[in-house]
Amino acid sequence: MFYRKMGEVPHKRHTMFKKEDGTLYREQVMGTKGFSGTQSILYHHYMPTEVSKAELIGNYLPEFEETGTLRHRHFLTPEAEKTGDALEARVYTLGNDDLLMGTAKVTTSMDFYYRNGDGDEMLFIHSGSGKVETMFGTITYRKGDYVVIPIGTIFRVIPDNHTDIFFVESFSQITTPKRYRNEYGQLLEHSPFCERDIRGPETLESFDEKGEFEVITKSRGLLHRHTFAHHPLDVVGWDGYLYPWVFNVEDFEPITGRIHQPPPVHQTFEGNNFVVCSFVPRLFDYHPESIPAPYYHSNVNSDEVLYYVEGNFMSRKGVNEKSITLHPSGIPHGPHPGTTEASIGKKETLELAVMVDTFRPLKIVKAACGYEDKDYMYSWIEK
Ligand SMILES: [Fe+2]
Repeated sequence: MFYRKMGEVPHKRHTMFKKEDGTLYREQVMGTKGFSGTQSILYHHYMPTEVSKAELIGNYLPEFEETGTLRHRHFLTPEAEKTGDALEARVYTLGNDDLLMGTAKVTTSMDFYYRNGDGDEMLFIHSGSGKVETMFGTITYRKGDYVVIPIGTIFRVIPDNHTDIFFVESFSQITTPKRYRNEYGQLLEHSPFCERDIRGPETLESFDEKGEFEVITKSRGLLHRHTFAHHPLDVVGWDGYLYPWVFNVEDFEPITGRIHQPPPVHQTFEGNNFVVCSFVPRLFDYHPESIPAPYYHSNVNSDEVLYYVEGNFMSRKGVNEKSITLHPSGIPHGPHPGTTEASIGKKETLELAVMVDTFRPLKIVKAACGYEDKDYMYSWIEK
């Protein structure tokens, strides 16, 4: 990310910053990679360490199924009927030691605050609108937004209406791809988006309030409850490079060519051992004999996950909106029968999908077999 500042900060870091009554604001340096990664400095009304109670709630990691037959998988997530706030509504489908992913049908506001102390979160807004109140300020969200919330950020999600989310809980930092940035961190001309397309918090509201406030924290695979003796969103100002941010998929400028372009042109973000790509509406290849549908391919050492957002996905049959497919490493995958021929001569696609490629094998959450299309592996047999 790049430098931003909101609210009031003192002229110089680590110097006295006083309230009107002469007492000090509390300075917090929040950074990654042990003071060598990106960081921000925040100024609080109260000490961010002022916790009156710390309790263990329990494990939050999903239970995974035993590794079975190597096969392509298809999960019809709409059939998973769990709703609630943006934490309790989460249904995990896949994961490994680098990330967890799944979907959430968010119907209610969080009546507590939350932070993920295990890594960054990416909330892709499939539909709905609302806001995310964070210690760095408030972000409004709408359809197509990728909301990225850094590790340790206290926040809560307040939907205006039913909000469908595809989420990634990463165990590392989620960033823009390094190859899109120059040595100073600026996004380069070949990047499919630039800084103007990235939104930060829009307003900073600071609550100078004592009381009891619940903050649920994920850390080390466990869920904890910390009771704060003050309002957790008590920041009067901050500056730096670490903060929640948003990129809307409509602002992704697709890279197209005369012949089929490889998946890396769709890359949007990256984390440790995974990438996130956006397949957006775009013009098809323009070589007179081009085949717009992809070729069969073996992504030999990555597992490929697609989350289908909308439009008719050109190379697949039988997938729905909100479907999740997993094409594991080690075996090839590609277009369904008839879709290669059907793509020839087409001028454009209206498909919208989010792809997550992981460089280490994914495990499937046990409960996901309850909403699995078990015949998917055999859907390439021509009938
Ligand atoms: Fe693929």
